[in-house]
Amino acid sequence: MTATHEKLLIIDFGSQVTQLIARRLRELNVYCEIHPFNAVTEDFIRDFGPKAIILSGGPCSVLDEGSPRAPDALFQMGLPVLGICYGQQVMMQQLGGEVDRGHGTAEFGRAYVTPSEQSLALLAGWFSGNREQVWMSHGDNVAKLAPGFEVYGTSPNAPYAIVADTARNFFAVQFHPEVHHTPNGAKLYENFVKLAGFSGDWTMGAYREQAIQTIRDQVGSEQVICALSGGVDSSVAAVLIHEAIGDQLTCVFVDHGLLRQNEATEVVTMFRDHYHLPLIHADETELFLGQLDGQSDPETKRKVIGKLFIDVFEKHAKPLGAKFLAQGTLYPDVIESVSFSGGPSETIKSHHNVGGLPEKMGMKLVEPLRELFKDEVRALGRELGLPDSFIKRHPFPGPGLAIRCPGEITRPKLEILRKADAVYIDQIRKHGLYDEIWQAYAAILPVKTVGVMGDGRTYDFALALRAVTSVDGMTADYYPFSHEFLGETATRIINEVEGINRVTYDITSKPPGTIEWE
Ligand code: XMP
Repeated sequence: MTATHEKLLIIDFGSQVTQLIARRLRELNVYCEIHPFNAVTEDFIRDFGPKAIILSGGPCSVLDEGSPRAPDALFQMGLPVLGICYGQQVMMQQLGGEVDRGHGTAEFGRAYVTPSEQSLALLAGWFSGNREQVWMSHGDNVAKLAPGFEVYGTSPNAPYAIVADTARNFFAVQFHPEVHHTPNGAKLYENFVKLAGFSGDWTMGAYREQAIQTIRDQVGSEQVICALSGGVDSSVAAVLIHEAIGDQLTCVFVDHGLLRQNEATEVVTMFRDHYHLPLIHADETELFLGQLDGQSDPETKRKVIGKLFIDVFEKHAKPLGAKFLAQGTLYPDVIESVSFSGGPSETIKSHHNVGGLPEKMGMKLVEPLRELFKDEVRALGRELGLPDSFIKRHPFPGPGLAIRCPGEITRPKLEILRKADAVYIDQIRKHGLYDEIWQAYAAILPVKTVGVMGDGRTYDFALALRAVTSVDGMTADYYPFSHEFLGETATRIINEVEGINRVTYDITSKPPGTIEWE
């Protein structure tokens, strides 16, 4: 897939933030891949054919025996190299400099780097005043520069904060330009790729063309099936694959009866009527709700739904005789992570939207988004003409409303929840807040409370509203709505939704809470 792009290789020494380096580069339209240090040999580099190399940070000390190194040959290939933190120390060690334990000079957190007198292309336009804020995280220090290197920036505890050998295009910094706390760090990556001669050919338009060819080559004349949920990943994957192979693709939309208001209609209208995708709308509400009857334990609900989902999918997929299953797997799911407990981790994280099915049905996977980060998938979706209403959608969990209905699931409760959720989301959209929020939803609580409406007493369900900000769903904070917004929303829900007489707002962060109530 990547053969015709200019490529940059990131060698991962195990830093927590290596992925952010890749993000910064992709934002600059530079294709890059992250590979663990012990998978990178001289041959690997030659096969990969990068135009430049970045050595990431990492948790080890170069002074420890057996600590990771880059292949020596890397420095003989005439390629520009940028070392970050541990990567800087590896460069110094391997190129003839010295690193020491940095007695008392460890730096963790915010620091300020001051430029030296002489200018450096890597730093062009970077220093806005006479110093720049950076994020440091190092115990060891460079003690002596490798031959050919000079200092271009210092911080109080890092006399070699920025060093370079301009003749060989080798650069190394002690801090992390990729993190948020180095506010102008992206500029350094921009300068680095510029001086390495990248033209910025990694665009979604180019990706689309190439991905289409790759899908055609992989699939030939076979049939492909895809579980389409209407979420961003599966939607983009389906539309892209359809563009590549047309009606050799069949999508199955499993409707478990736990979707939001109008969701099934929206998905079917969009993909069947607008995109003309062959789409099976498997309305299995009766089956799912029947089997969920009387179940109130969250894990049981998930298991029941997961199993039925596969059964239903298989029922529709089997007659098609498909040899391929399409999945919206993303790059963060496939990056091999470096682990120091026993060499590089053998486990490649892979999420199976339709767990276990490929093996069970003897199918091969088509994963056209494997090289993309989430925001690149959105950009590709836009490129394919998908409307923002799909591209910017908040995540929606596979088990759907089942896990937003703590305790027993009943049809009347689901009906109330759908209406209340729709009013809540409508409020968020009307106030222009939808895109600021990672995920927002209503949960109907297994509690009835007393209220008074008009002259009468009510005894109805309580509703919880949830809205969080997050980067990846792993941690989250509650969204700080104004009291005015919350008051107006509660009033609307109670007035418009029969069955709810009390509304609460959930202000728990994650951790200790989770995003979903169950
Ligand atoms: P939690 O509740 O674990 O959610 O903080 C983190 C993110 O994952 C989604 N989520 C799920 N997605 N099946 C899914 O496909 C599930 O069982 C499930 N549980 C939670 C949740 O909506 C949030 O985006």
